[in-house]
Amino acid sequence: MTPTAGTLYGIGVGPGDPELITLKALKVLRQVPHIFASSSPKNTYSLALSIVRCHLNGAGIEHLPFPMTKDEAVLKAAWESNARRVLEVLATGADAAFVTLGDPLTYSTFGYLLKTLKRLDPEVSIVTIPGITSYSAAAALTHIPLTEGEESFYLVSGALGAAKLKEIIDKSDNIVILKTYRYFDDIYRTLEDLDLLDRTTCISRCGLDGETVVENLRDLKGRDLPYLSMIIIKKQGRGY
Ligand SMILES: C[S@@+](CC[C@H](N)C(=O)[O-])C[C@H]1O[C@@H](n2cnc3c(N)ncnc32)[C@H](O)[C@@H]1O
Repeated sequence: MTPTAGTLYGIGVGPGDPELITLKALKVLRQVPHIFASSSPKNTYSLALSIVRCHLNGAGIEHLPFPMTKDEAVLKAAWESNARRVLEVLATGADAAFVTLGDPLTYSTFGYLLKTLKRLDPEVSIVTIPGITSYSAAAALTHIPLTEGEESFYLVSGALGAAKLKEIIDKSDNIVILKTYRYFDDIYRTLEDLDLLDRTTCISRCGLDGETVVENLRDLKGRDLPYLSMIIIKKQGRGY
């Protein structure tokens, strides 16, 4: 990258409430001329972009297609072409931002973009602006302390599968499971086996229209969860 090239800001826009964004993120979003958002190759919808739209100052918006597939070859090709497009814009000397839900380095497409950019151009200038994670916002909403004293805390993906999940839950005091929606039956059965259904809270669409909190997982048996759903397990109970 030439010394005159622009900087890419990876911006966490928080989990939904447009007020849960940092002052730093806001400042950059109002300054950069170019904003990238990831979306499915089938449409141009980006939740991250819709969260910050009310803060923008006329920056150009470009959608980068990130396919929802587990096919490594397809994914790698998409990351590579998206990273090349970002480098093309930075090479003009313009700064750009990539907006992402919650925190950019927590289960986010930004992590893949960052690694691909650094591989393609080790000199690329990147600044990451952290965001409030979905589970911080959900803990605040439900008044659930995530960790206290010497307790441990695990953050896991619901896609892990029942056996692995059981292993992790056995080892930890507090567990947050993100990406629950496709694997909810599996997660439900695991928590039922461990007798933890009533120590588990499910939060959907935190800070967004349709927000719901269910304090006992039994109430969700057999139901489909929205994509934006997570589970907080507190093995010792809430204590109140
Ligand atoms: C790809 S991960 C993004 C995580 C995000 N980077 C963060 O810092 O929280 C998507 C998952 O995050 C969780 N999530 C994100 N926003 C949420 C919200 N507003 N309400 C509930 N869950 C949310 C859901 O579990 C969803 O499946």
